[in-house]
Amino acid sequence: MEFAKGKIDLLLTGIGTLVTPVGIHPRRGEKMKQLHTINGAAIAIRDGYIVDFGQEQELLHRLQHAEITNTVDVGGRLVTPGLVDPHTHLVHAGSREHELALKRAGVPYLDILAQGGGILSTVKATRAATEQELYAKARRSLNEMLLQGVTTVEAKSGYGLTVEDELKQLRVAKQLDDTHPIDLVSTFMGAHAVPVEYKERTDAFVELIISEMLPRVAAEQLAQFCDVFCEQGVFSIEQSRRILLAGKQLGLRPKVHADEIVPLGGAELAGDVGAISAEHLLAASDEGLARMAAGNVIPVLLPGTSFNLGVKQHARARDMIDRYNLPVALATDYNPGSCPTESIQLIIMLASLHLKMTPEEILTACTLNAACALGRGGDIGSVEVGKRADLAVFDAPSISYLPYHFGINHTFGVIKNGVQVVWNREIMTEQHGVGVR
Ligand code: NIG
Ligand code: FE
Repeated sequence: MEFAKGKIDLLLTGIGTLVTPVGIHPRRGEKMKQLHTINGAAIAIRDGYIVDFGQEQELLHRLQHAEITNTVDVGGRLVTPGLVDPHTHLVHAGSREHELALKRAGVPYLDILAQGGGILSTVKATRAATEQELYAKARRSLNEMLLQGVTTVEAKSGYGLTVEDELKQLRVAKQLDDTHPIDLVSTFMGAHAVPVEYKERTDAFVELIISEMLPRVAAEQLAQFCDVFCEQGVFSIEQSRRILLAGKQLGLRPKVHADEIVPLGGAELAGDVGAISAEHLLAASDEGLARMAAGNVIPVLLPGTSFNLGVKQHARARDMIDRYNLPVALATDYNPGSCPTESIQLIIMLASLHLKMTPEEILTACTLNAACALGRGGDIGSVEVGKRADLAVFDAPSISYLPYHFGINHTFGVIKNGVQVVWNREIMTEQHGVGVR
């Protein structure tokens, strides 16, 4: 091995079981279950990348002449690729516990929004917040995610809804990407709700998004993707299509909040506009799922949202995997309204309980397929030579244990870009000589 001869910055030994999907492309259908498992494994890391891995004795033999700077024994624990959360509304101000009673009384999510609450209440708080305030709150959430084993997170704007306030959210995400161990991927979502000043004038707001917001976001390179809340009473199919195609022309790949509540045709739209992913999809039609499969759209399922909104209906993960050969990904949808949780491990449990996904499918959905939903399948999402050394270390005997023993955090450690950023369940700081930048 060419790599093994050189210097190794970090050698992880004593891995009880290493479990990972394989490849750089989304794993579809039946292939979601196929994982590479090595009992008694070790991983060699240099300059933040995996340079070799395999059965421990064999790897040590290959490395016999290598100069190894640091060796860390994982103590027989389970290691997987770092988890990827491909759908969050991370950067925002305030919280909405005042709406809990309304929700419990059965007032529908869209009715709360129509009354000026919901997303619009968070818009008010976010507009009033400084970048420093937004940064501090989002950073706390990122720390929670990191402690759960998450190493890459997507973050959407959409609580500003003015040119400047949308840019403010995206700048905060960029600053977090520069300063926090977790990598952030930004999505512009100016079409998240129609702000009060545009009430009953949705087309005029769409115009603002297309003519002013999108060009600024693209010029300042503040986002890689463009998302729309395509839902009855929010943005129609035609309005969504216009925004997504305008974004695409500027180099922002489409994502769609599609068919969450009403089967509007968002899944079909995602297929038509060449979206990288479509999210929610509880009400997606068969035609929509077929069009997604034809268009290579990744379904990003958010079981925490349906759980928290108390809806009985769940996304048809089994149909997506078994009938449509789709590459399902999972995400938290972390946001202050429909899903106020940073916990990917809760999502793992709900994917098992409500979506009937197997532990193998869930791991693929939270790693490689999630990475592909962010266009990062070539770089992260699996343990492979040449990929980034982003790893999660669990106090669990097997991946089945993760959805089984629920409500607690199983993560013991996290390696991000080859650095121990969480160990012994604590975030490493400068005092530990490693870790947080
Ligand atoms: O994905 N549905 C729209 N957007 C978010 C909710 C945002 C909020 O309620 O603040 C979602 O569920
Ligand atoms: Fe969302």
